[in-house]
Amino acid sequence: MSSQPKLGILFTCEEIEATVKKLAAEIRQDYLSKHPILIGVLKGSFMFMADLIRLLDFPLEVEFIRLSSYGGGRKSSGKIKVVQGLRSEVKGRDVLVIEDIVDAGLTISFLLDYLRKKKPASLKLCALTDKPSRRQTPVTIDYLGFTVSDKFIVGYGLDWDERFRNLPNICVLEDEG
Ligand code: IMP
Ligand code: MG
Repeated sequence: MSSQPKLGILFTCEEIEATVKKLAAEIRQDYLSKHPILIGVLKGSFMFMADLIRLLDFPLEVEFIRLSSYGGGRKSSGKIKVVQGLRSEVKGRDVLVIEDIVDAGLTISFLLDYLRKKKPASLKLCALTDKPSRRQTPVTIDYLGFTVSDKFIVGYGLDWDERFRNLPNICVLEDEG
């Protein structure tokens, strides 16, 4: 049996729902007639993506990409690669990347550079959460849900070593000991 770290609720289901609604309204306004491709970054964005697209009542496509950056721990290895790529053609399309969290920013910068090389008509980023105090490289977040302080968060898709993705709230993982 693995140990049970302490969790504290940071954002409740209701707060998440309201924030996802706010983001959907902003995205709807900008993409209504654009037939965009929304690219979710696996695995952390799957729950956010599922809730977000249900609120978008216009034609769009959904893709997922999987990158490797973090090992089992709480810090980025800094080495990022695509481990599961895209099936759709991105060239000439309006692309909106859906991310769970921007931390150091290395993962998303790598992905935005990777996508930019494929010559999309436009490329924007929607992130559910942002930890600006940890940034190592500048990142523009076009649609942002929550800003969080330098704490490790889990739940609503976000994991710690593959645990806690299924929590309906976003929680802070307290340091043990
Ligand atoms: P970075 O911006 O390159 O540091 O890495 C961002 C990625 O690291 C995210 O997509 C998450 O998968 C993971 N990550 C960073 N901070 C957290 C956190 O607080 N909780 C869970 N995952 C995190
Ligand atoms: Mg992760």
